[in-house]
Amino acid sequence: MASHPPIDKSSVRFLLLENIHPNAVEVLHENGYRNIVQHPKSLAEDALIEALAEVDFLGIRSQTQVTERVLRNAPRLTAVGCFCIGVNQVDLDTAAELGLPVFNAPFSNTRSVAELVVAETVMLMRGIFPKNAAAHRGTWIKSAAGSYEVRGKTLGIVGYGNIGKQVGILAEHLGMRVIFHDVEAKLPLGNARQVATLDLLLSEADVVTLHVPETDQTRNLFDAPRLASMRAGSHLINASRGTVVDIDALADALQSGHVAGAALDVFPVEPKGNDDRFASPLARFDNVILTPHIGGSTAEAQANIGIEVTDKLVRYCDNGSTLTAVNFPEVTLPEHPGVCRLLHVHRNVPGVLAAINERFSARGINISGQYLQTRGPLGYCVMDIDAAASSVALEELQAVPGTIRCRLLTHG
Ligand code: NAI
Repeated sequence: MASHPPIDKSSVRFLLLENIHPNAVEVLHENGYRNIVQHPKSLAEDALIEALAEVDFLGIRSQTQVTERVLRNAPRLTAVGCFCIGVNQVDLDTAAELGLPVFNAPFSNTRSVAELVVAETVMLMRGIFPKNAAAHRGTWIKSAAGSYEVRGKTLGIVGYGNIGKQVGILAEHLGMRVIFHDVEAKLPLGNARQVATLDLLLSEADVVTLHVPETDQTRNLFDAPRLASMRAGSHLINASRGTVVDIDALADALQSGHVAGAALDVFPVEPKGNDDRFASPLARFDNVILTPHIGGSTAEAQANIGIEVTDKLVRYCDNGSTLTAVNFPEVTLPEHPGVCRLLHVHRNVPGVLAAINERFSARGINISGQYLQTRGPLGYCVMDIDAAASSVALEELQAVPGTIRCRLLTHG
């Protein structure tokens, strides 16, 4: 069981790896945190353990592997911020078991993806890429054949979530008709229209763009029969997850001309890094736009990520809020002026809240605010109490069976 002394901002240490955007340090400074160590690269396991010895908050991007061994050997670690979208580089279950919330930035690059998709829609409808490739090879194809405006054409969005909605709004501004299919009923934005089935969408759309998550239902969602259901001469864009499209089936549909062009940003198997070779059966088609999973990779997205994740770490440190934590009960908390706040992470077993309340009541500690949330095996209880009772309350909390860790926030 871990417990932590009250926050003294000067003693809170941040370790930021992998060249995290300077916005992160700026936000920390603005919030009074100055004890920040930065490193341009990721650290291997042993080096990371050594570097974490005195660290409260760790910031990483996608390269640093935060393994079970790292987490179990980081005695002061309080939370991990992934300054990216993916979080599979962190052992989330062990982090939860140790009471450590992990945060990421799932929406910082939404707009970047949407802009690319809209640009690709125009490029595909105009047949620009084959003409561009030919020009690079010295061939001049000055022709209007197979070249269309997007105005008045139908964009079919599969998955009307954060990105799908933004794509819809931008496409409408270009004069497109927008239809979408989603497994859930969604409030349409603008003049977009939800259609009941995917096949209905495919029968109407000139361009189909995929914005679904990777699930059992979306794996190979676009297989040979589905591709055959698309309108002859329509286009496909996938900037969601590589497993959603059967690449060999798409290659066949392109070969036959049934699909007139495609843009893919994601692939079932992607190179591990820029030194690895990329190979795809789609590489031989000039009418296919291939991009190396950079739909969300822009300066603006990186800057947003720097702010979004740091804000979450600061809110957890200052206030205890865990909204959008990926492995932890989510609690949004009000400010706590003039009172002392206790954060109690416990195993989600019956009787913990009763035990806390009994112990506080026996010691005459008045609880002015109490918030509880659970998620799987974890419970997270936050209590606001009179500052004078803080050390007794902390002692009592530590003695509650099922306690994983507790922390005291004094300022508010
Ligand atoms: P989101 O969770 O906001 O939206 C996903 C939508 O898909 C939801 O409305 C959901 O109900 C719907 N959906 C789920 N299963 C479906 C199915 N079988 N058929 C139809 N609809 C279904 O996700 P968000 O943020 O819009 O991201 C969408 C995808 O884009 C994700 O796969 C994400 O990993 C990917 N992405 C790719 C990036 C890139 O660089 N290319 C960057 C960011 C996200």
